[in-house]
Amino acid sequence: MKVPLHIPVLLDHVLKILCRNEKQIFLDLTFGAGGHTKGLLNRNEKSIVYALDRDQNAIELAYEMAKEYPNRLFPFHGQFSELKQIFKNKENFFDGILLDAGTSTMQLNDPKRGFSFRHEGPLDMRMNSKLKSITAYDLVNKLDEATLSRLIRLYGEDQRHRKIARCIYQWRSTFGPISTTIQLASIIKIGLGGSASDVDKLNRPIHPATKTFQALRIVVNDELNELYNGLEQAYTLLKPDGILLCISFHSLEDRIIKRHFQGIVLHSDEFSLNFDDKLLNTQAEKQIRYDIQTKHIIEADDNELDENPKSRSAKLRYGIKL
Ligand SMILES: C[S@@+](CC[C@H](N)C(=O)[O-])C[C@H]1O[C@@H](n2cnc3c(N)ncnc32)[C@H](O)[C@@H]1O
Repeated sequence: MKVPLHIPVLLDHVLKILCRNEKQIFLDLTFGAGGHTKGLLNRNEKSIVYALDRDQNAIELAYEMAKEYPNRLFPFHGQFSELKQIFKNKENFFDGILLDAGTSTMQLNDPKRGFSFRHEGPLDMRMNSKLKSITAYDLVNKLDEATLSRLIRLYGEDQRHRKIARCIYQWRSTFGPISTTIQLASIIKIGLGGSASDVDKLNRPIHPATKTFQALRIVVNDELNELYNGLEQAYTLLKPDGILLCISFHSLEDRIIKRHFQGIVLHSDEFSLNFDDKLLNTQAEKQIRYDIQTKHIIEADDNELDENPKSRSAKLRYGIKL
């Protein structure tokens, strides 16, 4: 299998923080293209990595990579919310756990997966395409206008949510279902008057459909719930004195990670694909569980931004389990 071109974000920081002695056992919760896993394995030849991903393609790649590291890389296909079940006998087991949230370059660059408006593809966006679950097509074509607007507000944090929902709704009422990524992106762009009003951290214009695509992807993959549950379950797998390191790419993820480190336990039982904002707003009890090491988040420096623009929104937080 051809290894995709992928530059792992904040790799030097990840290795410096996680690699504390010669023989450690790590859990990489987001194998992706294996960039961070490879870094960990190469840093110390006695270290071992257990690698998880919900994407079958990523896990196939992990099995290929495992051949280069006999008895040192163990791939698992599954998702964060299944952690306890997958690693049943591994409580207080790992020296370090890494979570690099979001989508991989492999997913974004594969037109068939429908994650990106840069490539023409079906409106899919499932990270685990083996599951017969909801797709972006279902959300875009079946939700009523008010729900669509709410989804874009909550998960895209886009102020123009009403206008975007209206143009999607009007289009499909007039012309029928919206079926491809580029079609959806164009409808949004035209609906907003063709403007690219947002800019990223590098001052580059952002496509007006960016936040809507983020919102759809989050709901299709139930990402916030997954993240919240994953962090709770990962805690039990980490050894006391072990390190949890998380990298996030937007404020919704970062908020959940920050609250986890602060020990804020949310009540999320009923939260799922009904896009209830409970998870984002609930006040709950506090348990001190980590010695937080990042009072100030770690971000990419200018060299990394030049080399890998994807790192522009990456935020790294880590803590030591008490
Ligand atoms: C940003 S990529 C990771 C890139 C990786 N660190 C590397 O260096 O190649 C995120 C990966 O996490 C996976 N992922 C996202 N949410 C997940 C979940 N809830 N459970 C398991 N894997 C998940 C995605 O499928 C994707 O492959």
